[in-house]
Amino acid sequence: MQFTLAPEPEDEAREAGRLLFAGPVDFVKGVTAMAQLPPADRIEICFAGRSNVGKSSLINALTGRKNLARSSNTPGRTQEINYFALGDSRYMVDLPGYGYAEAPVAIVAKWQALLKQYLAGRSTLRRAFVLIDTRHGVKAVDDEILTLLDKSAVTFQVVMTKADKVNKATRDANIAQTIEALKKHPAAFPELVVTSSEKGEGIETLRALIAGLV
Ligand code: GTP
Ligand code: MG
Repeated sequence: MQFTLAPEPEDEAREAGRLLFAGPVDFVKGVTAMAQLPPADRIEICFAGRSNVGKSSLINALTGRKNLARSSNTPGRTQEINYFALGDSRYMVDLPGYGYAEAPVAIVAKWQALLKQYLAGRSTLRRAFVLIDTRHGVKAVDDEILTLLDKSAVTFQVVMTKADKVNKATRDANIAQTIEALKKHPAAFPELVVTSSEKGEGIETLRALIAGLV
């Protein structure tokens, strides 16, 4: 499999992305057990990644709404599976992080179990966006989640985050490292998106990609 950076969207796709995210995006509910998931009546996409990688910030950047998803400096901010209705035919899902979190061990174990059940068992999950920090590349805990997605046959696409925080050399090296790691994962979508929620890099591309999923 050849992995590349996602190309700039065509005008039409860019416009579809813009319109989708300029429209209504509403918080639906926070879920703490599989039994509480909303009815599986539309496609959904989710954002997964290590604690503090920038999942909630990315949702805020995509929607242009600063506090739609709560972000914070403290790893472990998002403690539930948070559902947002994106227009009337998609759910967008903010997940708790995996790996290190500043929360009691027993609580973290509970989210991790829920996160794994969700990723492996949500029939309407159309694509998982897995966020990788451009400063760090793919870590062992990421690899574990990617393997779970392979086993569950859930297509995932890597989104590199916090690109504004690294120089060009680190950026290139960690994109290359990430691509190497992805070669072992059959469920990986072959295009990566490099983003900065802070500066807006890659946000239009990601909007267009999400709007294109049906
Ligand atoms: P958990 O919910 O704890 O798993 O974290 P998260 O993945 O949702 O991360 P969150 O969006 O809360 O961001 C964590 C920290 O990184 C916050 O302090 C953000 O301001 C910062 N951050 C997120 N994205 C970016 C980015 O693109 N650039 C920079 N410079 N900082 C970012
Ligand atoms: Mg979060």
